[in-house]
Amino acid sequence: MNGAKRLWVLLLLLHLPSGKAALTEAECVSLPQPYNVSITSYNMEHTLSFMPDPQTPQDTHFKVQIFRSRRKQWRSLSICSELTVGQTCNLTKAFNDPFDYYRAQVQAREGNRKSSWTVSDEFQPLSDTVLEPLSVSVSGCGNCLVLQVKVPTVGKLKHDLHLKDIYWELILHVHRTRDDAHFRLQLPYKEESTITYLQPGVEYCVTVSVTSFFNHNSIFSKPQCAFTSSPAPERSGTSQLFLHQTLALFYASVLTNQY
Ligand SMILES: *[C@@H]1O[C@H](CO)[C@@H](O)[C@H](O)[C@H]1NC(C)=O
Ligand SMILES: *[C@@H]1O[C@H](CO)[C@@H](O)[C@H](O)[C@H]1NC(C)=O
Repeated sequence: MNGAKRLWVLLLLLHLPSGKAALTEAECVSLPQPYNVSITSYNMEHTLSFMPDPQTPQDTHFKVQIFRSRRKQWRSLSICSELTVGQTCNLTKAFNDPFDYYRAQVQAREGNRKSSWTVSDEFQPLSDTVLEPLSVSVSGCGNCLVLQVKVPTVGKLKHDLHLKDIYWELILHVHRTRDDAHFRLQLPYKEESTITYLQPGVEYCVTVSVTSFFNHNSIFSKPQCAFTSSPAPERSGTSQLFLHQTLALFYASVLTNQY
């Protein structure tokens, strides 16, 4: 190679990569970025959703990355690398540490075109999830009601080494159907509790939510109603007994009259 040729090759080597990089970068941001990237969470099941820009071409796919504050780096999520418009991303497994702080970001991609990333707000599983009692039932026990509540999340979290000492609480709204009298009650979280000092033979309706020091986002269950005991059982019992006694006396007198 002569000097001039060598210089030309050198210049080519120097310029080509940067020229190419500039070109790729220009392609990179040629798609409009998604918006409303948000994380919703019910009972510790976390879901990422987003809206595509109205100008997004039809064949666009969306890719998700997550960031956890303890690792401090973005990581692609293989289960959400080819989302289509309207699909959501299940982050439950990826956000598995209830105490850590997370973010997610979404990018639109079509062929070798990409958008900029759109980042979600910060999310902390334990405090941001919305707790909702999945099953609530009440039954009468005289002048009380037995309440059964299942919040699977709390059951699961209470088995966790870090979480078993968190104080979980049930908040009850107790409402007497007859006259609308109502009161509020807080009890330690248990799958079975008793609501005491109620009036016997009366119907009450109960709604329940569950909270902890870390979480006040809970939703109240639908009301569940029950009588403390069957309504006015004594009076009907007495009249039945009275009827039997009257009949017995009547037969007795018929019999005695026959002899
Ligand atoms: C986008 O998010 C904003 C604010 O969070 C909300 O008001 C709006 O309804 C959302 N838009 C859509 C289409 O979901
Ligand atoms: C999300 O993932 C969790 C854990 O893998 C799973 O239990 C749950 O059913 C999934 N939710 C949906 C809506 O697919």
